[in-house]
Amino acid sequence: MIRIAPSLLACDFARIAEEVEMVEAAGADWLHLDVMDAHFVPNLSIGPPVIASVAKVANIPCDVHVMITDPLGFAPAYLDAGADSYTFHAEVEGEAGNPAAIIEFVKGRGKRVSMAINPDTPAEAVQPYLADLDMVLVMSVHPGFGGQSFIADVLEKARRIRYDWKFEGDIEIDGGIGPDTIEAAAAAGVNVFVAGSAIFGADDVPARIAELRAKAERAFVGA
Ligand code: DX5
Ligand code: ZN
Repeated sequence: MIRIAPSLLACDFARIAEEVEMVEAAGADWLHLDVMDAHFVPNLSIGPPVIASVAKVANIPCDVHVMITDPLGFAPAYLDAGADSYTFHAEVEGEAGNPAAIIEFVKGRGKRVSMAINPDTPAEAVQPYLADLDMVLVMSVHPGFGGQSFIADVLEKARRIRYDWKFEGDIEIDGGIGPDTIEAAAAAGVNVFVAGSAIFGADDVPARIAELRAKAERAFVGA
C-alpha cells in the first residue's frame, strides 16, 4: 500500500490547522510530524502541545518522527498527545534509546512503532527488531532540516530490508523526496513517502500528491 505523508515541518505554522485541512483534502494519507529537540539534531521544532492540537483537527493518522535524545522517556507524552505511529532513532544512546523497551511500550499502548536509521547508520541497526516493528524509516537526508538533497546511497539499505530480509512491514523514506526521486525509492521497496518542501512548496498540492502517488505506484517493487 503506497502512502504519501506530507511533513508539516514545511508548513506555515501560523496556519497549521488550515494546512492540515489543505493536505488532507489534497489526498495525503498520513501527517508526518517532525519533533526536534535541538540536541539530537541541530534544530528545534514542535512538542506534545502542538501534536495534541494537530491530532484534534486531523482526520488522518499522525506519523510522529521524534529526533530527540530521550524517545523512551517522552513516548508517553507523544502517545497521549495523539501520535498514531511513533518513530524513534536507532542512533540514540543509552537506555533512553533502548529499542526493545520503546517497541514494547508503544505496542503496549496499541500504537504503531517505527525505527529510523540515518544515512550513515547501517541497516543492521534495525535487523534484530524487524519482527516487532511496524515500520522502518530510512532517512535520505541527515535529519534536522527540510529542503535538503536526496541521498540516493541509502536505497541500498531499503533494498536489503525489503528483499534480502523480506521485511513485510512499511518502509518509509524521508528527506528530499519529490517527483524526481520517488520512483527510485519505490523501486527499492519503499512504500511510505514523506515529502515536505515538494508538497508544501507546490503550486498545485493535489496535483503534486497525485503525481507522487502515481509515480510510486508505477515504480514500486514488492518483496
Ligand atoms: C528532516 C525531517 C524530514 C523533512 C523532510 O529531519 O525528518 O521529514 O522535514 O523535508 P523535505 O521533504 O523538504 O526534505
Ligand atoms: Zn521526518
